[in-house]
Amino acid sequence: MNDPDGRRFATTLTEKLQTQILGKPLHFFPTIDSTNTYAARLAREGAAEGTIVVADAQSGGKGRLGRSWISPPGVNLYLSVILRPPVATIVAPQLNLLAAVAVAEAIADVCPLLPAIKWPNDVLVNDKKVCGILAEMQTEGGALSAVILGIGVNINVPLAAFPEELREKASSLFLEQGTEIDRSTLTARLLTHLEKSYVLWIQQGFSALRATWEQYATWFLAKRIAVAAPEGTVRGTVLGIDDNGALLLRQEESDRVQRIIVGDVTVLGGYDRGDKET
Ligand code: BTN
Repeated sequence: MNDPDGRRFATTLTEKLQTQILGKPLHFFPTIDSTNTYAARLAREGAAEGTIVVADAQSGGKGRLGRSWISPPGVNLYLSVILRPPVATIVAPQLNLLAAVAVAEAIADVCPLLPAIKWPNDVLVNDKKVCGILAEMQTEGGALSAVILGIGVNINVPLAAFPEELREKASSLFLEQGTEIDRSTLTARLLTHLEKSYVLWIQQGFSALRATWEQYATWFLAKRIAVAAPEGTVRGTVLGIDDNGALLLRQEESDRVQRIIVGDVTVLGGYDRGDKET
């Protein structure tokens, strides 16, 4: 693919965008430290809702829990969206679930693959993570002023770009499908789905999107998992999610149902056919 600094990707993305809010304006960088860091600065300076930051490569891509996000040039999507939802801070983590659904829908539109969601927001294909989402909140006087919704999708990255220890757990759409995917087509679809879900969420709340999220997460039901939550790690069996997007877990130790709003999930004992943890 002869698009060394991603400028053609940015131009074709602008041409293909069919959104009313998202991508207006769109800031593109051949390389940046982190699209989330830059978008956070723009948001603090008053950037409008819908502003997006896209980069061809990141030198300091940020993952959840202080991890880094592998961000080589020319192959993937590194996107941050500035949103200013008129909701309470406690509700904002639901945007993680919305973003995961939008990514899954875009993958299903563009690739002959079956995407799956692992609560709250990892998107998997064939049990391997192909997308990560990092939502960062900004508040003013205790009220939510902006959410930076960072989305990284491993689109065409080859296996060699991942460190050895990630090769069992992470993949790209290219690796799972066997052919390259057009980055701008996938990104335009993703933004269309995200905008549609976002508008519905503002109007009707998460309950209107719950069934769609569940469609992509049926595999996850009844799984034995460990959740590293702010209150500590809990183990149990997945019962589902509630109308607010919180995970419902039957705790192993007490048999009680616990409601978890944020946390990092490890599937124990592997998936249906495997024996790995992710
Ligand atoms: C995860 O750990 O699963 C979240 C990864 C989020 C990566 C994306 S790439 C675009 C945006 N900019 C960043 O620095 N991180 C997010």
